[in-house]
Amino acid sequence: MPFNRSVKIAPSILSADFADFGREIAAVEAQGADWIHVDVMDGHFVPNLTFGPALCKAIRRHITTVMDVHLMIAPVDPYIDAFADAGADILTAHVEAGPHIHRTLQAIRGAGMKAGVALNPGTPASAVAHCLDLADLVCVMTVNPGFGGQKFLDMTGKIAELRAMIGDREIHIEVDGGVDPSTAPQVVAAGADALVAGSAVFRGGSVDNPAPYGENIRAIRQSVA
Ligand code: DX5
Ligand code: ZN
Repeated sequence: MPFNRSVKIAPSILSADFADFGREIAAVEAQGADWIHVDVMDGHFVPNLTFGPALCKAIRRHITTVMDVHLMIAPVDPYIDAFADAGADILTAHVEAGPHIHRTLQAIRGAGMKAGVALNPGTPASAVAHCLDLADLVCVMTVNPGFGGQKFLDMTGKIAELRAMIGDREIHIEVDGGVDPSTAPQVVAAGADALVAGSAVFRGGSVDNPAPYGENIRAIRQSVA
């Protein structure tokens, strides 16, 4: 996975048809997705349940781009090897999910994946100041995690602060939650280079009518061009 700071669009399959992930992934990749964002929820760290490593492993062969796995689970460490085995390219854990984020990020890299660290809206940028050298991606949540389709919370100041903290280091800034053509410009201007979008990509389309996915992706891309 060569590093670059160009804007990547990462559709979240949380907004796809759960009975048809393989075809949904193929459709959204054909329509221009750069990464595939996979939201894992445990009903404990967040008030919703989705799926675990077995599902991730099953959908892996349908992904030709990048499998970007966002863990909204606690604890994280006991499951890192299972997500490596599932084929995750990027594995992101929340800084709020446990007391030892260093150990978690080291274990993710040690298992051969890129390591991401996510921050809830209420968590300051300073929470990751001392673990940036262990991270390949910082995910700034612009909703409280758990559900798709929520209202965007303005985290522009936090993104800009992280961008300054990161400097020349090869660390992506990803923004997740409520990203659409009206909110994307401000997060990219602040320094984000990876945009997760669920409802704003999948709305209006389906596996049998995927053209709207492409229109939606292009609309986000054009909003930040
Ligand atoms: C929220 C998830 C997001 C979500 C984004 O808990 O982590 O990835 O699917 O969905 P939208 O783009 O609809 O806010
Ligand atoms: Zn997510």
